Amino acid sequence: MGVPLFDTATPLAPLRAELDAAIARVVDSGRYILGPEVAAFEREWAAYCGTSDAVGVANGTDALTIALRAMGVGPGDEVVVPSFTFYASAEAIPPTGATPVFCDVDPDTFCITPDTVRAALTPRTKAIVAVHLFGNVAPVAEIEALGVPVLEDAAQAAGTTTDAGRPGALGTAATWSFFPSKNLGCFGDGGAITTSDPEIADRCRMLRFHGSYDKQSFAHVGYNSRLDELQAAILRVQLPHLDAWADGRRAAGAHYEQAGLGEVVALPRATPGVRPAWHLYVIRHDRADDLAAAFAERGVGSKAYYRVPTHRQPAMAAFGADDARLPGTDEAARTHLAIPMSPVLDAAAAHEVTAVAREALAAAPV
Ligand SMILES: Cc1ncc(COP(=O)(O)O)c(C=O)c1O
Repeated sequence: MGVPLFDTATPLAPLRAELDAAIARVVDSGRYILGPEVAAFEREWAAYCGTSDAVGVANGTDALTIALRAMGVGPGDEVVVPSFTFYASAEAIPPTGATPVFCDVDPDTFCITPDTVRAALTPRTKAIVAVHLFGNVAPVAEIEALGVPVLEDAAQAAGTTTDAGRPGALGTAATWSFFPSKNLGCFGDGGAITTSDPEIADRCRMLRFHGSYDKQSFAHVGYNSRLDELQAAILRVQLPHLDAWADGRRAAGAHYEQAGLGEVVALPRATPGVRPAWHLYVIRHDRADDLAAAFAERGVGSKAYYRVPTHRQPAMAAFGADDARLPGTDEAARTHLAIPMSPVLDAAAAHEVTAVAREALAAAPV
């Protein structure tokens, strides 16, 4: 029995008729950009996250750049960002005119901590991007207590809950990606910014529409970056199911624990007070590449997402990033491996994956 890395099709299958109707509604409406579906989704997404505002944008990368600019980040500033993340978390910073400064992660949680952030702060630090990697959540309140505003990169954390509220409502602002494979995904590119600061929300709305508040005069150089009506309508069909899907992801993590996977590899650890809706279920082992080869032979999906961390990527050399000493990042980059995760991954699949891992690691290193 093979086990795929993702399964987006099974959870969506029962929603097919509703999705078709939502798409037809938009096609028939003749309104395709910034119409009633986007407005309704923004209200519903803000209510879900627990913020006063949500602003739909074209993707999660634009969401980061726009939110940082709306928070006042600009030329001459520094923005602290983890290196162990999807490249876009850092790539979105230079377009604001600011410089990315890389900080380390705790390899057990894959998230930044107050200590790793403190080591990267300078008098020029204007904001911190706290990435909620793999669906886990960085300790935002403790990080914000360092005295610098936090932008949550919550692209991977839809459906996660914490004792302090949902991600998206924990920092000064937060950004989302609705890329199709995300916990809440549309049928193309899509993104959003959430915040309870109405001035930041207003600036995000202005920046997403060419830097104009009134669509007549252009005071700023902005972007053409909107969530479109079709994607908003598709997201509105899915949103009522997000919590059930998140429960399924948590249950899948529990299936791995019950199958004994933690006896052979290091399992991801939730930060205290966090109940992750695992977007990716990422284990660690010194022999991660041997494991990946064994999984491939048995039809089990796996992927090392960030083997070369962001601060070692050629494009970041211009920011002196390669000099950063980030031992937790290097450890996570070397040993991590994403294994199958979806809202419908059951105990049998978790046992299968665990059996393959156990067998592969019992064999001598190749
Ligand atoms: C952590 C993180 N940040 C930012 C992004 C960028 O989002 P997008 O692909 O929608 O631009 C992604 C996903 O792709 C992500 O995983």
